[in-house]
Amino acid sequence: MESSDKVTNSNKYRLLSDASPDELTQLARQVNASPWRQHYHIQPNTGLLNDPNGFAHYNGQYHLFYQWHPFGPVHGMKYWYHVTSTDLVHWEDAGVGIEPGDPYDSHGAYSGSALAEDGVLYLFYTGNTRDEDWSRHPYQCLAVLDQQGHISKQNTPIIESPPLGYTDHFRDPKVWKAADSYYAVLGAQRLNQTGCVLVYRSDDLQNWSLTGELETSLTDFGYMWECPDYFELGEKGVLLFCPQGLPAEKDRFENIHQAGFLLGEQINPEKPHFHHGSFTELDRGFDFYAAQTTLTPDGRRILIGWMGLPDTSYPTDTHGWAHCLTLPRELTIENGKLMQRPVKEMELLRKESYTAVHTVQDSEILIDEMYGSSYELHCAIHMEGAAKAGITFRTGDTEETLLYYDTLSKYLILDRTRSGQTMENDTGSIRRYALDAKMIDLHLFVDQSSVEVFINDGEAVMTARIFPAKDSNGVAFFTEGGKATFDAVHWLYT
Ligand code: FRU
Repeated sequence: MESSDKVTNSNKYRLLSDASPDELTQLARQVNASPWRQHYHIQPNTGLLNDPNGFAHYNGQYHLFYQWHPFGPVHGMKYWYHVTSTDLVHWEDAGVGIEPGDPYDSHGAYSGSALAEDGVLYLFYTGNTRDEDWSRHPYQCLAVLDQQGHISKQNTPIIESPPLGYTDHFRDPKVWKAADSYYAVLGAQRLNQTGCVLVYRSDDLQNWSLTGELETSLTDFGYMWECPDYFELGEKGVLLFCPQGLPAEKDRFENIHQAGFLLGEQINPEKPHFHHGSFTELDRGFDFYAAQTTLTPDGRRILIGWMGLPDTSYPTDTHGWAHCLTLPRELTIENGKLMQRPVKEMELLRKESYTAVHTVQDSEILIDEMYGSSYELHCAIHMEGAAKAGITFRTGDTEETLLYYDTLSKYLILDRTRSGQTMENDTGSIRRYALDAKMIDLHLFVDQSSVEVFINDGEAVMTARIFPAKDSNGVAFFTEGGKATFDAVHWLYT
C-alpha cells in the first residue's frame, strides 16, 4: 500500500472516540446548513448512511439500524446507527447501535439483520477487518439488544471465515427462523469471481454450519452478490440481493449496481435449490440499493432500502453528509407479481389536502395549490389521445423534474436532467419503465431532495434523489399531441 493511502485510510477508519467534540460539532453545523436535508426520510446526523440493517419489531417498537460513517460522505469505519418507531413513519434517534473497533470488527460493523428471540433482539452483522497488507478478513458476529435498550457485543464470532471455494467477499447475514432451526443467507463470491448466496443453519444461534450454496439458474450474474434477504410470501419464496457488475441492457440495469429479486418456489434451506423466474429490479429509478425486509406484528412484509448507491458521489457531499433511507414499502404477491405499496401509516403524515381534476390539451397548467417540497401527490392520468402526458414538479425558473407517459414508445419516463444540481458521475439522467396503459396511476412522495413514485398501485417504483433550489416548488400537468385528464389529490406534509 502507498503511504498516502495509509494516511487516507487511518483518517477514514477512525472511531468516534478518536474525534474531538469540536470536530463533530463543526461537522453537524455544516450538515445542518445543507439546503437538501430531508423532512420525513431517515438520514444521518453527519457523514454517510448506507444499508438499512437489523430491521425488526421487538419489545413494542420497530427497530431499524443503518450503516453509518460519522466523519464525512465517504465509506470508512462503519457503525450501526439505531432509530426506533412505533408507526414506521415517525422515527426516534436512539444513538449508536453497534460500535466497531474490536478485534473481529476492527474496520467496521458491516451489514446484517435482527431476530427477536428469547426475549432479546439478536443482531447479526459482518465484522470487517483488514490486515497489515489491507487484505480483508470478514467475521460474522453477534450482538444482543436487551429490553432495557442496551446493546452488548459477543466477543467471539459465530462464523470465523468463508468456506472453501469462496473469497473474502462474504458478508451481510440475514437470519430467519423456520420450524425449530435458524437459517441465514449470506452474500458471497465464488473463487471464479462470480456472486452467489450461501445458506447456513443453526440450532442455537451460536453454532452455524453451511448447508450449501443456494443453487439458482444465475451461475454467472455479476461478480458479487451483496445484502441477500430470503422470505416467504403467500406460497412463494422471494430472494432479494444486489448483484454487482451487471452490464446495462436497454432499459434495465442502468445504475452502477443493481438491487432486485427472484420470485419462485419456497426453498428447502437444508438442500438449498431455488426454482425461480427472472431477476427483476426492485426499483426502476436511480438511487436504490441494499433493501431489507421484516414482518410487522400484523403480518405485513415491509421493505426499506438505501436511497443511494455504492461508488457514486452526490451533491450533498460538499455539505458533509450523504444519503437517506427509502420509505417503508409493503410487499404482496398478486397474480404472480411482486407488488410494492407505500405503508398505510404514511397517511399519518398528511396535513392540508387539495383535490383537482383538469383536462389538459397541448399545454401545461400550473397547479398553484399543489406547491411544496415535502408532500404526497396521487394522480390518475387518463390518456384521451395525448401523445405525451405527465407531471412536472419541483419546478422553478430553470428547474423541473419530469414524470410522463409517452404513448409512442410506451414508456413511463422519469427525467431529472433539469432537476437542479446534477450528479457528477452520472449514469444518465433518464429512467424508463415499459408500460402499456390508457390510465396511469402515479403516487409520488416528494421530500426536500428526493422523489419516490409508486406506479399503477404498486406494480413498480421509481426512486430518485433530486437537488433543486429551495424555491423550486411548483407542480404542473402537461400534455403534448392531444388530451388527457388528470385526477389528483395533494397532501402537504409540513
Ligand atoms: C452494501 C455493502 C455491504 C456491506 C456494507 C458496508 O452497500 O457494501 O455489502 O456490508 O455495504 O457498509
